[in-house]
Amino acid sequence: MSISKHQARILAQMPKSLVLVGHMGSGKSCVGRKLAEILNMNYADSDQRIEAIAGISTADIFELYGEEKFRTLETRELKALLNARPRQIISVGGGAFCQPASHEAIKKHALSLWLQAQPKTLIARISNTSSRPLLKDGDPLKIITALTAKRDAFYAQADLVVNTDGLEISESVEKVLDTLITYFKIG
Ligand code: S3P
Repeated sequence: MSISKHQARILAQMPKSLVLVGHMGSGKSCVGRKLAEILNMNYADSDQRIEAIAGISTADIFELYGEEKFRTLETRELKALLNARPRQIISVGGGAFCQPASHEAIKKHALSLWLQAQPKTLIARISNTSSRPLLKDGDPLKIITALTAKRDAFYAQADLVVNTDGLEISESVEKVLDTLITYFKIG
């Protein structure tokens, strides 16, 4: 089902920002950008914001200052995005929803949606593993599978879940829109 202009207008007035959570490769950025375009809403990506403020890449932040520093920046920038008006579509890095402070901020100030997929799907979608510091030391499929065991319990606490296995980006976007229309009971 594709949404009508009327439905898009109502969805764009959602009372909270929508935060897309999920593993690396789940499509958060591509889906988020497309959703924002369709709904005519602002789009923000917490990793991009961190990189813009730090003036270096995520990989370099991990390398030079360590993951803990990255997580501190992530929580700080995420809170700024959650406070921004108007409401927006926000995609966050794979670890954000698994860090207590960021998790709490998202739960409190946003509607969260987990873009779920199997490890094989995730890896097939990640073209550039070298830009992902957590995937560079070892077999990416094994690493993502191990992360799944640790992280899925956090992602499962999202308000909404959309499985994207076997879906193209455009199909994932449609499924997310259908899920939002059902959630907000928009006729
Ligand atoms: C991370 C995911 C990355 C980025 C950083 C850490 C993670 O974002 O935030 O490399 O902990 O899973 P994407 O999920 O957009 O790849």
